[in-house]
Amino acid sequence: MSDHYLPGLEHVIASETSISFLDVEKEEIVIRGYDLMELAEQMTYLDVVGLLLEGELPNESRRQAIESLIQAVYGLPPNVRAMLHLMPDRADMMDVLRTSISALASFDDELDDRSLEANGRKALRLLAKVPQIVAYGYRAITKQPLIEPDPKLSYTANFLYMITGTIPSPMEVAIFDQSLIVYSEHELPNSTFAARVIASTQSDIYGALVGAVASLKGTLHGGANEAVMHMLLEAGTEDDLEALIRSKLARKERIMGFGHRVYMRKPDPRALLMKEALAKLAPACNQQELYDMCVRGENVMRTEKGLHPNLDYYAAPVYYLLGIPIELFTPVFLAARTVGISAHVMEQHANNRLFRPRVHYTGARDLHPPQGNIVS
Ligand code: SDX
Repeated sequence: MSDHYLPGLEHVIASETSISFLDVEKEEIVIRGYDLMELAEQMTYLDVVGLLLEGELPNESRRQAIESLIQAVYGLPPNVRAMLHLMPDRADMMDVLRTSISALASFDDELDDRSLEANGRKALRLLAKVPQIVAYGYRAITKQPLIEPDPKLSYTANFLYMITGTIPSPMEVAIFDQSLIVYSEHELPNSTFAARVIASTQSDIYGALVGAVASLKGTLHGGANEAVMHMLLEAGTEDDLEALIRSKLARKERIMGFGHRVYMRKPDPRALLMKEALAKLAPACNQQELYDMCVRGENVMRTEKGLHPNLDYYAAPVYYLLGIPIELFTPVFLAARTVGISAHVMEQHANNRLFRPRVHYTGARDLHPPQGNIVS
């Protein structure tokens, strides 16, 4: 037994997987043998769904079949839909997501079947229902009419349409789809690790996803994309963003959207891709100054702290310009990552060993309760 304690499990290899690997040296995110950036540039999110859940890139007919299987299970159980309307209007959307996914479990007839086939079917059901919980949940608590998916629209277009109520343009769909791909899977972040830990007790995929949602809500993790957008809106201009970052750094505060436990001082390849997407989207939305402001912030952090932006830094303004409410930035991240988390749960169930680490004990020893206090 190794007895050295690594805070935050830093540098610890906690799982064996054939799903993904962050090759920091080669600055490549490997997804079942493919470079995630190439997948994001040449394929669609549902291609990556097939790759992650079935182990190989689907051909056109298999990808269409996956889309049909997902569309066939669109819709939430009436009780879950009704529950969304019972949530308080101040509810955090990650809590609405966590609660609703938990409620969904009770309506799944295959809940405790941990076979690859049953888990694969449950993963597709989750890929259909999680985006609807994100969109319906937000519209329910903001007292807006729920938008039903349009059968003429693609999976990705429908996800955006159900949120905004507007049919997205081809460019908006392409950029949103690319963001879903780069958010889809990223090795063993805190949330996916939480899911694998839960699955290792032979608990079900819904419970594992609920644990991942609770983890992803934190601003050190998935919650960062919302915090980035609030920072950009608070600053408003390039100069003010530079001043705001400098003042935060002077107070030893963390700047959301920068740094990464694995990439450390190296760039996050996904951020570069979303930066290119923002470079296209900003002028089309007459928001060039938003792009310029983000670039200024990036330059300040690189010179002041030697830190690079992570995916959340550029995904946030992209989502803002796509018309996604800020409260839904992290829920959209979770919806996209549902496929990666599902793949890890399936792998854990198929080749399991219970996670049960030890501790480095720093407490007292050899104490004894006072005599004569024995409760008769
Ligand atoms: C995601 O794991 C994943 O893969 C996650 C994710 C995924 O796809 O699932 O990539 C998604 O969670 C991205 C990260 C989003 N979070 C943020 O943007 C929040 C801001 N980032 C930081 O809190 C931080 O960078 C972490 C939490 C992401 C990583 O922190 P570490 O590895 O614990 O690094 P650290 O705290 O040891 O910091 C090392 C140094 C420190 O300086 P010193 O005290 O040594 O002088 O870097 C500094 C830190 O102060 N630092 C920052 C900083 N991040 C690190 N300083 C200012 N702003 C920051 N953002």
